[in-house]
Amino acid sequence: MTRGRFITFEGGEGAGKSTQIRLLADALQRRGIPHLITREPGGTAGAEALRALLLDSNLNWDARAEALLFAAARADHVANLIRPALADGKWVLCDRFLDSSRAYQGGAGGLGDEQVMTLHDIGSDGLLPDCTLLLELDPGTAAQRAAVRDAGASDRIGAKGADYHAMVRDRFRELADKEPRRFVRISGDGSEGDVHARVMHALEPLLALA
Ligand code: TYD
Repeated sequence: MTRGRFITFEGGEGAGKSTQIRLLADALQRRGIPHLITREPGGTAGAEALRALLLDSNLNWDARAEALLFAAARADHVANLIRPALADGKWVLCDRFLDSSRAYQGGAGGLGDEQVMTLHDIGSDGLLPDCTLLLELDPGTAAQRAAVRDAGASDRIGAKGADYHAMVRDRFRELADKEPRRFVRISGDGSEGDVHARVMHALEPLLALA
């Protein structure tokens, strides 16, 4: 059996990741490609428990503690769900992964990329996606969508200021431009169908081998 493919979706709040993951899963289903959808932080019982702590607005983690907790959640997720599914030949579609830690804690949080990558080496043996789709949307539209979705109740990290989210966005773009073989930057403009077509186009090389 061939190893499955590991596809991650990244981007700021309100970029449309979950909608696009669902549309991709439907497309894989139609092609008979075994797959699963998962998310970070979360995806396993242990990581979901850490997610509740990480997003709790009553707690005040600093960037280091935050990065350690995200790395711990990821380690559990990788060991208990992602690696076994890939070994089983499944495509794993993940809503956020390592690059979120690099953009949020490493970039906007000021921890630096090297530290985040070191934690990832320790926690998850450095597992990298086969392809990372970065959904990009102009800040105004993204903030509007996130506000409608969260209806005034955004989580601890979503509630950080516009400057923080601008830094996240810039860092994602830098990461994508530094690793063009793994990342594809996808414009989130237009209808869901327009964006989905861009996603399918980006994955053509991998789909051709499936
Ligand atoms: P979630 O509700 O999943 O966000 P979204 O719907 O915008 O994807 O909440 C996850 C939050 O955690 C989001 O604000 C991004 C943040 N995050 C990090 O700061 N570092 C990470 O490594 C991950 C995976 C998420």
